[in-house]
Amino acid sequence: MVFRSIGIVSSEESNNEKTTTRDSERRKFLKLLGLSTGALAVGSLSAERFFVPSTRDQPVLSSYPRAILVDPEDNPILASNIPYANQSTSSYPIMVFNYPLQDEPNILVRLRGIKIPGGVGPSGDITAYSGICQHLGCVVPLLRYNPGQNIPFEAKLVGYNAQNWPAYGLLYCKCHGSQYDPTKGQDNLYNNGPAPSPAKHSVPQVVLEHDRTTDYIYATGMNPESAVIRTHQWQPNGEIYGSQVEKENLSGGTLLTSYKGSAALYKATVVSSTNGPWPGNY
Ligand code: FES
Repeated sequence: MVFRSIGIVSSEESNNEKTTTRDSERRKFLKLLGLSTGALAVGSLSAERFFVPSTRDQPVLSSYPRAILVDPEDNPILASNIPYANQSTSSYPIMVFNYPLQDEPNILVRLRGIKIPGGVGPSGDITAYSGICQHLGCVVPLLRYNPGQNIPFEAKLVGYNAQNWPAYGLLYCKCHGSQYDPTKGQDNLYNNGPAPSPAKHSVPQVVLEHDRTTDYIYATGMNPESAVIRTHQWQPNGEIYGSQVEKENLSGGTLLTSYKGSAALYKATVVSSTNGPWPGNY
């Protein structure tokens, strides 16, 4: 204290300041890489007001395209072929398709024995959620479905264990720990957090249709209809989902392509950690 009052900084204080600067730079670097930690989460939350656009709560679209879910060879996905997750599942493929625009990833899930609100298929157990975290917009695979027996390391850091981890797991965002319950449909925000206002939103649910005759699945909207799909600016390994969407109105987004030349039907291609190639090597 004496040294500071006469304008002299002790070597220890100088080292502390250098360390603080280095830590700051490291945090920025980690943030860019999407490798957030619990400590980083605190710093990011305090700065959140600088990142949340003023247009945060505007609905995305007033009408939605109709799109058929297809595999990378343009063959329609059959509902009966979608793998199940159950309470003892320890790994589950990441299945992602873009909707309602080419830049908007959604996570496809099927939960055995669960009739999901808004779910489709013979048992109502198939649904899809936006793959863009409602907190600060981290995208899949940083936000991903972690099934029943697969507790991510980051979730263990905030106190989850085999006793308190939900039976069907969570959509868990590794950036700052936001949690979404895949069994709940539209109202999926879990445990309030930790995302603070205005981020206390469930991830929007894709409105799906199942054709019982063909077993095909269609995406026809978002639930709620006035869904806000979070801006996504932090993408691991660069541009995974096309041009960056920096505004809540999705300007800069890319339209889905039509399915086999149809004027009324688009396609949403499901890419997966099992059918590859997985964008960004995830
Ligand atoms: S972006 Fe912060 S928890 Fe997902």
